[in-house]
Amino acid sequence: MIKTKRTTAFLISLLVCTGNLLAQKVPKLTANSVEAVLAAMTLEEKATLLAGSAATTRTIPDAAGYSAPIARLGIPATVFSDGPAGLRIRPLRDNDQATYYCTGFPCGVLLASSWDTRLVSEIGRAMGNEVKEYGVDVLLGPGVNILRNPLNGRNFEYYSEDPILAGKLGASMVNGLQSMGIGACVKHFAANNQEKNRGANDARVSQRALREIYLKPFEICVRESNPWTIMSSYNRLNGEYTQENFDLLTLILRNDWLYKGMVMTDWSDPKNTSKQVHAGNDLMMPGFKSQSDQLIADVKSGKLVEKEVDACVRRMLEYIVKTPSFKSYSYSNKPDLKEHARLARLSGGEGMVLLKNDAATLPLKNTKQTISLFGATSYQSIAGGTGSGNVNKPYIVDISKGLENAGFTLDPLLNRIYTDYKTYQNVKMTQDPDQNGWPFISYRRPALPEMEMDKALAERQAAVTDLAIITLGRNSGEGTDRTVEGDFNLTPSEENVLTSVCDAFHAKHKKVVVVLNIGSTIETASWKKLPDAVVVAWIPGMEVGNAVADVLTGKTSPSGRLPMTFPVNYSDIPSSKNFPVEGISQSGKDVDYTNYEEDIWVGYRYFSTAKKEVSYPFGYGLSYTTFSYANARLTQHNGQWQASVRLTNTGKEAGKEVVQLYIKAPAGDLKKPACELKAFAKSRMLAPGESQVVVMTFNTSDLASYHETVSSWIADKGIYTAFFASSVADVHQQIPFKLAKTWQQKTTNALAPKVTINRLAF
Ligand code: BGC
Repeated sequence: MIKTKRTTAFLISLLVCTGNLLAQKVPKLTANSVEAVLAAMTLEEKATLLAGSAATTRTIPDAAGYSAPIARLGIPATVFSDGPAGLRIRPLRDNDQATYYCTGFPCGVLLASSWDTRLVSEIGRAMGNEVKEYGVDVLLGPGVNILRNPLNGRNFEYYSEDPILAGKLGASMVNGLQSMGIGACVKHFAANNQEKNRGANDARVSQRALREIYLKPFEICVRESNPWTIMSSYNRLNGEYTQENFDLLTLILRNDWLYKGMVMTDWSDPKNTSKQVHAGNDLMMPGFKSQSDQLIADVKSGKLVEKEVDACVRRMLEYIVKTPSFKSYSYSNKPDLKEHARLARLSGGEGMVLLKNDAATLPLKNTKQTISLFGATSYQSIAGGTGSGNVNKPYIVDISKGLENAGFTLDPLLNRIYTDYKTYQNVKMTQDPDQNGWPFISYRRPALPEMEMDKALAERQAAVTDLAIITLGRNSGEGTDRTVEGDFNLTPSEENVLTSVCDAFHAKHKKVVVVLNIGSTIETASWKKLPDAVVVAWIPGMEVGNAVADVLTGKTSPSGRLPMTFPVNYSDIPSSKNFPVEGISQSGKDVDYTNYEEDIWVGYRYFSTAKKEVSYPFGYGLSYTTFSYANARLTQHNGQWQASVRLTNTGKEAGKEVVQLYIKAPAGDLKKPACELKAFAKSRMLAPGESQVVVMTFNTSDLASYHETVSSWIADKGIYTAFFASSVADVHQQIPFKLAKTWQQKTTNALAPKVTINRLAF
């Protein structure tokens, strides 16, 4: 009897042990079980996890892609969606009465023009709310590539020609997004500065230009916002695809910058997957079975060490445990769209740039005046760029509608002529709605070609209305770069509308305002003298018309400043010598490869050092008021510098000022730009007569340039000058200061070009 009892007890404990062992063998993923899950994974499961997958139990229509689920280990699929001007998912679904529209926020270039880190974070929080409440885990944005050349088709998605501005605002966006418990994806890493042959173009860039210009915004994002994910780009960089680039993804990103997050590829055809894994590219998107198969075969044959697969899998698991999908977040499909529309409208005004305002033409305080509204884009305004960066928005408020909402009366005859013209053009233009058959309006809107302006019509309008507004529009996007003729430069019809309207209205002593609804720089030098006022509205999202009207009426005081230089001619830009000509360049130079011969001399770094005339300088923008700068101060403590200046609103309207701190370095071994932006700050809204002390900080390390011969950042000792400025060309106060000891930091020697680049030198 006793024996039987003992036997039973033994059997029970054996069963419990075996059960435990079995349970131990199949751990479920938790934040604390990453290592145990990794240890329990088969090679097949690991390979599955490293390639994206459409085979998931939960799909969000038109999300960009998914990471693969592995049910056995409690690993859910996670969802990635574009990006960067809001969430891009399908708004209308089969057999579903509900709608899933998302807010079309202002594009990157407008947000950059706000120079407002707090505002950009707030937009990030609003986008993050939509991402989370629509069941998505990661927004594929922000894009922080440098505006190397104005013709890059995707410039509107990015921020600036300056790496500090792009990096600080990118980090603010990531911080805002991720504070909502979803992930950001900083893209496209790196040197993805043209759309022509973007899938194979080899960007050949010096180590100095990479570290100081092209990689810098990404470095700032990594250090200041710790993005969950980074997207390696389509292109090659110094001979290797960025996705297969060990120097870029391991030596620089992980070893130098200590990045701990996950790297996914852009949406590419399969490359050499084992090379990608070796480089430190964790996830291949959108994902193909052939990629997992290659990994398995290469590990089995000894071509790839399993440890390298494990490193990627570990980073994938660490990413997955942070996601709403992993936490089974019960999303509502009801983000706060009303509040976000308000924010989109408000931020529009914060980022619009007032280029010209003779005789206080703006703001238009009298809404009783009648307006002749010219320009096809006034009636079909540009709310978002084309391609993956476009959001499926519920509506677009055209500029014509925005002005009417603000209480203005638009001349009915002109209104009808343009409305009919718009209908005609939309029928005529072959631009297809979009392959998925979604509503034309929500996917993409071309900028309509300008209507020929008849002199007699312009004169009639000048006789019967009080004021003329002309909108000029541009749109562009993924896959195609812009052209010089007819895009960077005005078309003959646009020149014609400008001259006819300005002539007719000025003959009657009436004013003309030009609104530029554009995503990147256009030529302004030849015509800017014609109108009385010019506002760059950029691409402001679905509230475009209301946001423009707010700025024109002064409801929102324009406080945007240019995040890039407006040159006199396209050919003045050094990169114009090494940039493809859309429609002409087919192979070889600028297509198969692009030599970044301009080196670090991008944007104002070139123009201010070469003392070359520009149409509008970097950082430029007027206000409806004026500001004085006083009491500039600079102090230092343990390598941390603090600059402050007292701003006073000296005008008659409330307004905000952007204070820009540029620094000139002493002469050293390397030729340095005349000055470089190191910090900036935006004031609060200051009433007339009101003052604010604006404070900016930077570190000694921020003064350093990259010395290739010793693979080091070096800030030479000597006398520097800090300029307190309202644009790179408008300095109000300056302070010389001394760096007593040279500061130096070694990096890895990575990404050396494999060919000689004929670098621009001064
Ligand atoms: C674009 C990315 C985008 C991805 C997913 C790619 O073609 O370059 O920016 O995030 O598609 O839609």
